[in-house]
Amino acid sequence: MKTTTLGAAGPEVGVIGLGCMGMTHAYDPDGRDDATSVAVLHRAVELGVTLIDTADVYGPYTNEELVGRGLEGLRDRVVLATKVGLELGPQGLTSSMSGMKLNGRPEHVRRSIDESLRRLRTDHVDLYQLHRVDTKVPIEETWGALAEAVQAGKARAIGLSEVTVEQIERAQAVHPVASVQSELSLWTRDALADVVPYCEAHGIAFLPFSPLGRGFLTGTMASVDDLPAGDWRRTMPRFQAETIAANQAIVAAVRAIADRAGATPAQVALAWVRAQGAYVIPIPGTKTPKYLVDNAAAGDLTLSDEDLAELDALPAPEGTRY
Ligand SMILES: NC(=O)c1ccc[n+]([C@@H]2O[C@H](COP(=O)([O-])OP(=O)(O)OC[C@H]3O[C@@H](n4cnc5c(N)ncnc54)[C@H](OP(=O)(O)O)[C@@H]3O)[C@@H](O)[C@H]2O)c1
Repeated sequence: MKTTTLGAAGPEVGVIGLGCMGMTHAYDPDGRDDATSVAVLHRAVELGVTLIDTADVYGPYTNEELVGRGLEGLRDRVVLATKVGLELGPQGLTSSMSGMKLNGRPEHVRRSIDESLRRLRTDHVDLYQLHRVDTKVPIEETWGALAEAVQAGKARAIGLSEVTVEQIERAQAVHPVASVQSELSLWTRDALADVVPYCEAHGIAFLPFSPLGRGFLTGTMASVDDLPAGDWRRTMPRFQAETIAANQAIVAAVRAIADRAGATPAQVALAWVRAQGAYVIPIPGTKTPKYLVDNAAAGDLTLSDEDLAELDALPAPEGTRY
């Protein structure tokens, strides 16, 4: 696996990371298997997929436990990233993120880091990320509490998720921003307008989440029937019968380029994301051993200028993100 660094000042990481959310949350509830997920974590480390992303609320609260168990004995070989700032509301979890509420209060952050470290079976995380900005709390206060975790040795660095440039600048004035995690893929490009260039100019890592379009860009979803029962995506605008049908044109174009490049559609989707900047490190999510291997191999795929231009020119998808 080729490597880069987590931003200009961060530790070395494989150019492809691993998102662990789907191992216990949001997608394919009947297809999850902890033993297989642990095997995926072990194989990831062997392959050099060292940036491992989780969050306290995934599960809820089971994803970090699984990741902590899976990384037992391997902790020092990975760059471990988790998140804080969402919590389960009084109704409990209704469907995936519905039922979650924002909590950016400093006391929540202070309490949560200790709970995350316990579940992750470690005394520090390498990257502690604010999952969402709670607009009821000044970002300086929330971010100040994350910075305390660095000062206490509980986090090596801190990052943001789904933020504007203005929010990054306000946080930077309090403590250095190591990373920004936002959705970026062939069918979600909003961050390219300003956040990705800002990060590149300031040596901040950008971690694209859902870089495979929540699986859609891999070409495995021809219709809504390909989505498992109880899967969160069934409630999302881009995964309705009409939008899935309309958006097949995007997948067909990705597949044509993949065929030409001797690669898979997933690898093309990841190589395009990687081409957006030196510190752009996608974190494709998988709980499936063969998908992990497929995604890791995207670290070796460099697309031609012609392929990149064709991918740049793909049409916008039908349907909003959420
Ligand atoms: N900061 C945030 O707010 C936020 C939001 C969403 C996600 N995230 C993070 O980003 C990570 C990735 O995002 P994501 O999981 O939403 O979407 P994604 O990475 O775009 O897609 C994941 C889906 O694609 C499938 N898949 C993975 N590799 C494949 C391959 N090579 N061929 C065919 N199918 C493949 C997975 O299947 P299986 O799982 O069945 O293997 C899963 O259904 C998450 O795990 C999480 O860590 C963060």
